[in-house]
Amino acid sequence: MFEHNRFFKFTLLLLPFLFIQGCSQRENKDALIEVKKVAQKEVIDHHSFSNYNDVKSTHLHLNLKVDFESNKLIGSVIHDIEHMKDADKIIFDVKNLYVSKVEVDDEEVVFEVKTGDDLLGNALVVPIQKYSKRVTIFYETKRDAEALMWLNPTQTTNKKTPFLFTQGQAILTRTWIPCQDSPCNRITYSAEISCDSSLMAVMSAKNSKENNATGYYQFEMNQPIPTYLIALAVGDLQYLPISNRAGVYAESSLIEEAAWEFTDMEKMITTAESIYGDYDWEQYDILVLPPAFPFGGMENPRLTFVTPTIIAGDRSLVSLVAHELAHSWSGNLVTNATWDDFWLNEGFTVYFENRIMEALYGKETADMLMAIEVQELNKENANLLAGKYPQDTKLKLDLMGRNPDDGMTSIAYVKGALFLQSIEEKVGREKFDAFVKQYFDAHRFQSLTTERFISYLNYYLLEPNNIRFNVMEWIYEKGIPVNAREVVSNKFTKIDEIVSTLETSTNIASLKLDTLNWTTQEWIHFIRQLPNDQFSYGFFQELDAEYGLSFSGNSEIKAEWFVKAIHNNYHSVRPAVEAFLVEVGRRKFLEPIYEALANQSADDKQFAKMVYEKARKNYHAVSYQTIDEILEIN
Ligand code: BES
Ligand code: ZN
Repeated sequence: MFEHNRFFKFTLLLLPFLFIQGCSQRENKDALIEVKKVAQKEVIDHHSFSNYNDVKSTHLHLNLKVDFESNKLIGSVIHDIEHMKDADKIIFDVKNLYVSKVEVDDEEVVFEVKTGDDLLGNALVVPIQKYSKRVTIFYETKRDAEALMWLNPTQTTNKKTPFLFTQGQAILTRTWIPCQDSPCNRITYSAEISCDSSLMAVMSAKNSKENNATGYYQFEMNQPIPTYLIALAVGDLQYLPISNRAGVYAESSLIEEAAWEFTDMEKMITTAESIYGDYDWEQYDILVLPPAFPFGGMENPRLTFVTPTIIAGDRSLVSLVAHELAHSWSGNLVTNATWDDFWLNEGFTVYFENRIMEALYGKETADMLMAIEVQELNKENANLLAGKYPQDTKLKLDLMGRNPDDGMTSIAYVKGALFLQSIEEKVGREKFDAFVKQYFDAHRFQSLTTERFISYLNYYLLEPNNIRFNVMEWIYEKGIPVNAREVVSNKFTKIDEIVSTLETSTNIASLKLDTLNWTTQEWIHFIRQLPNDQFSYGFFQELDAEYGLSFSGNSEIKAEWFVKAIHNNYHSVRPAVEAFLVEVGRRKFLEPIYEALANQSADDKQFAKMVYEKARKNYHAVSYQTIDEILEIN
C-alpha cells in the first residue's frame, strides 16, 4: 500500500508541470497515460482497515434492538461474503463497538480486535476458509458512538418521546455497524429493527408509511450502496404523501408545515429526470429531523434526512432538497471511490442542483444561488491557501491520516461545480448533458476515482470534440483557474449600489428599500456587503427594528445577520443568538457564529463559552467536535 501511494504521489507531482497551458499534445498524452494507469489499479482507501480487495461483504443483515434506556443498539449483523482472492481472514472496520461473539457459517470463531487510532477506529479480524460464506457478528454500540444521536423528549419538536438518528458519512457507520466501511465497497442490506411500540423506525430502504403498533420493522435495500448511506431514524413519526412516489416523514406537530414547504418535490424529481434520466430508486421521501441534526441535508437513498431549519414557511430554502435529490444520481448511483475523490460527489451535485433550480425557478435565481456560493468559495480558498493545508484547494485531495471531514469545504462543492460549468461553457450544454447522462448510465451502482473520471471525460467528451481544456490544472493544482466561469447577478449589482450609499447617519426606514421582493439570496448578499466595524450601534438597531432580522423565520438570513451583528458589536442581538445556538445543531450555522464571537473580543468569547455550556448537549458529535476546537475546549 505504501509503495503504491508513493508512486501515485510522484506521478501527481509531475502532472502539473506537464499540463500548464500550452503544453504539447505529446506531453498531454503522456500524462493521460499515467492517469489511465492509476485509473486501472485497485482502489486503495486509506480511511478503511478492511480488505475488500481480497474478500468482500456483498450483503449485510441487521438485527437490532433500539434501547432508549441505555442509549444502545444491541444485536447482530450478518455479512454475506464473496472471495476475490485467497484470503484467510476478513477485516471489518469497528469503532466504539463492543463485539461479544463472531460466527463463521454458524460456527463460533476466535476473532481479534486490532487497535487502530482515534480517527479510524479498530480492525476486527475474523479468520475464514476458502469456502466460508457468512460472518455473523454479535455486538452492541457504546455510549459515545459518533454516528448515533440519542435525543431525550425535550430535544424533539413534540417533546413527548425520545428520538434516535444516525449519520454515516463519511466514516461513522463503523461506530454502529461492524462493516467494510469504504465508499468503494457496495452492498445491499436488510434489517429487522425493534423499538418501543409508540415509535416508528425508518431507514434508507423501503419504508412503511404507518406506525405499525408492534414496534417491529423490517427493511430491504436491494440496490448496492456504499456503507455510509445506511441510515436509521426512530421517533414519533408521521407520513404525508406529496405524489405517488414522494412524501415527507416528520414529527406530528411539524408534518403539515413540512409537506407544504416541500410541495415542489415531485416537480423537482421530474425535472431532474428530464435532464439526466430516470430516478432509479423508486421512492423519494424526506425525513425532517429535530434541530440537533448536524447537517442541512444528508442524501440517504430513498429517504433524504433534513434539518428543520429549511422550513422557512415560504418555500425559500428548497434548493437544499434539489441538492439532496441530485445526489440520487451523483453520489448514490455513481459514488466517489475514496474520500479524496469527494468532489466527484459534491461538485457534480452542486452543478446538478443548480440545473434543477434553473429549470424550475429561472436562470436569475440559479445565478444568485451560485453567486452566493462563489463568494464563499473565494473566501475559503484564500483562507486555505494562507493556512496549514493549502493543498486542500485541489479537487483531488490527499487526506491520508486526516479526517475526511476536512475535505468538506467549498472546494469540493463549488470549485467542483465551477469546473463542470466551465467545461459546459466551452463544449455547449447539449453535448455536455449528453456526456453527463452517459457517464451516469455507464457507472450506475459503481464507485469510481477521479482518475477514472478524467479518462472517461477525455475519451468521450474532450477528444471526440477536439477540445483542449486545462483539466489537470483544475484537478491537481491549487486555487481556482483563470478560465473559471464568471457568475454575475444584476440583482446583486443593485444591492452593491445601495450598500455603497449607506452611512452611519442613514435613516434606514426612509430608504424605502424594495425588500418585500427580495429573495433570500439578496438578503444574504445585502448583509454580507455591509462593512464590519464601521456603522454605529444605532444604525444596526434601526436595521433590526425595521426588518426584524434577529427574529427572522429564515434561518439562513438570521445566521448571516448574527455574524454581521457580532462583528459590529451590536450586543442587543445576544439573546436571539443564545436562543438560536441552544436550539439549532446545524454545523454550517454554528461554526461562523461561534467563530465570530471567539475572534471579536474577550467579552464575546466569554459569552460564547457561557452559551456553549448550555448548548453542547444539544449538538451531534460532528458539530461539537468542531466547536470544541473553535473555543479551545479540552
Ligand atoms: N452529503 C452531504 C453532507 C455530508 C458531507 C455529510 C460530508 C458528511 C460528510 C450533503 O449532501 C450536503 O452537502 N449537505 C449540505 C447542504 C447542501 C445544500 C450544500 C449541508 O448539510 O449543509
Ligand atoms: Zn451534498
